[in-house]
Amino acid sequence: MNWIISIIILLLLGGLAYWLLVTTEGVFLGRRVVVWLYDLTAHKYDDIKEFEPEWEQFFIAHPVMHKLDSVRAPLILDVATGTGRVPFILLEEPLFHGRVVGIDPSRKMLKLAAEKLRPFSHRAPLIQQTANALPFPDNSFDAVTCIEALEFFPSDIDALREMVRVLRPGGLLFVTRRRGWEGKAFLARYRPVKEFEATLTNFGLEDVNTQPWQFAYDQVFARKR
Ligand SMILES: C[S@@+](CC[C@H](N)C(=O)[O-])C[C@H]1O[C@@H](n2cnc3c(N)ncnc32)[C@H](O)[C@@H]1O
Repeated sequence: MNWIISIIILLLLGGLAYWLLVTTEGVFLGRRVVVWLYDLTAHKYDDIKEFEPEWEQFFIAHPVMHKLDSVRAPLILDVATGTGRVPFILLEEPLFHGRVVGIDPSRKMLKLAAEKLRPFSHRAPLIQQTANALPFPDNSFDAVTCIEALEFFPSDIDALREMVRVLRPGGLLFVTRRRGWEGKAFLARYRPVKEFEATLTNFGLEDVNTQPWQFAYDQVFARKR
C-alpha cells in the first residue's frame, strides 16, 4: 500500500515540477528563474520554434510595415526580443528602412540575437534589460512590439504601462496574448480577451484589435491616442 502512495506522491511532484518549469516557464518562481531557464535553453530556442520565414513575414513583418506605412524610417522597440525574431524579420525586408532596438534580460538569448543580426547591427542595437523599467524617454518610439513574452513577466501590467509610456502618440503597439488552455494554465495571471483589451484602453490606447494567431496566442494591435 505504501508504495502506491509513494508513486502517487512522485507523480504529483513530477506534474507540479513540469507545470512550474515547462508549462509556465518559471514565472511562479520569480523573474530570475525565468531568465535562468532562457539562458539555459537559448541554444535550442530557434530549433524548437522552427520559424517559417513566409509565416513570419505574413504575420509579423507585413502587418507592422503596413500599419507604419506613413513613417519612412520608423524607430521600433522590441521588448523581450529573445534571439532577435522581430528585428530580423523586419530588417530582412528590402522595403523596411527603419531601426529596431531589442531588449531582453537573457544574456544568452541576446548573444544569439547579435549573431543573427550581425549584417544589420548598425540598425539593431541590443540591450540587456527587463521590461518593467524601460531605459528610454517618454514618447520615443513609432512602434513597440512584444511577441510571446508578456505572460512570463513579473507584471504584465507594469510592462504594458512602460511600453505605452515610451510609445509616441499615434504609435503602434503590437503584443501577443496567451489564450486557450495554455493561457489558463497561468491561473490568476490569465487575462480573458475583454479584460486584456480594457487594460490597453485604460492605458490610453485606441483601435484595440485582437486576432487569433497561433494555437496558443492572439495578436493584439492598438494605437496610442
Ligand atoms: C518565448 S521568448 C520570446 C522571444 C521573442 N519575442 C520571440 O517571439 O521569439 C520570451 C522572452 O522573454 C524574455 N523575458 C523573460 N522575462 C523578461 C522580463 N522580465 N522582461 C523582458 N523580457 C523578459 C526571455 O528572456 C525570452 O527571451
